[in-house]
Amino acid sequence: MSSVATRGPAVRVRAPGKVNLSLHVGSPGPDGYHPLITVFQAVSLYEDVTVTAADELTLSVTGHGAELVPLDGTNLALRAAHALAERAGVDRGADIEIVKGVPVAGGMAGGSADAAATLVALDALWGTGLTRDELTDLAAGLGSDVPFALHGHTAVGTGRGTALTPAMVRGEFHWAFALRAEGLSTPDVFRRFDERAGGLAHELDVETDTDVMAALRAGDPARLGQALSNDLQDAAVDLAPDLAGTLDAATSAGALGVVVSGSGPTVAALARSHQHALAIAAAMTAEDACEQAVCASGPVAGARIVP
Ligand code: C5P
Repeated sequence: MSSVATRGPAVRVRAPGKVNLSLHVGSPGPDGYHPLITVFQAVSLYEDVTVTAADELTLSVTGHGAELVPLDGTNLALRAAHALAERAGVDRGADIEIVKGVPVAGGMAGGSADAAATLVALDALWGTGLTRDELTDLAAGLGSDVPFALHGHTAVGTGRGTALTPAMVRGEFHWAFALRAEGLSTPDVFRRFDERAGGLAHELDVETDTDVMAALRAGDPARLGQALSNDLQDAAVDLAPDLAGTLDAATSAGALGVVVSGSGPTVAALARSHQHALAIAAAMTAEDACEQAVCASGPVAGARIVP
């Protein structure tokens, strides 16, 4: 007699990657974290996370760069699952399957998207009954970018990046992202930022994002291109000097603005239209300025169940 394996109910959730339109970094506090003022935009590169009822917690990862993702207890999706089970008093498992669409260790918060998607998926599978605020609270304990992956759209992040205020945005913005074969470690980039500061205090200027916010409200990509900024960019280029060539290539290809995304090494090039983004991506690839270039648009929604 043959036996047919039966699987329990499943929930699938998509969560987006992000680009920082601006990222202002202050001097670290006693906990080692740097105060930030940043404008996040969620873009249409997605992590797909499917959870299936099971006795134990298991994890599998496929997709671009999957071999670089840790499968042990440091994995952010597993940490999210454990944190949710503990908070909700749940004693159940799940098979967690991640399909990666956001560059790994690229400064686009792919791991944070996995954590946010896992929270939403397991909340539904286990029927924990936690409120959105309670999930956001759990998210903030997992990592600085996890609340934004839950929230999505465009938002100003302060504190560690976890306190979010939605931003008003008109229309859609088109991006070409230049991916680098080797990722950068976020703590390394922050450390290099501190070394460059040489012990001098960095004051956070709350007025600095007036241009970014005005460009978003007006739906004006040319103005937004001029306003893109990232305090971590020089530190990222120090650690990955070839990024200087990638930034130049994106500018030469006609981008409206070019910036390293978050702690890098992904380079974000803003375009006028989807066609323009495709042309910039093609030019960067043809010039060997990056390992691969992908196009996406934003803003898009945060972690959502796929019906
Ligand atoms: O919060 P998350 O785990 O994503 O942060 C990764 C690392 O990035 C931290 O351990 C810290 O070194 C650095 N970081 C920081 N200040 C922030 C966010 C992250 O120094 N606001």
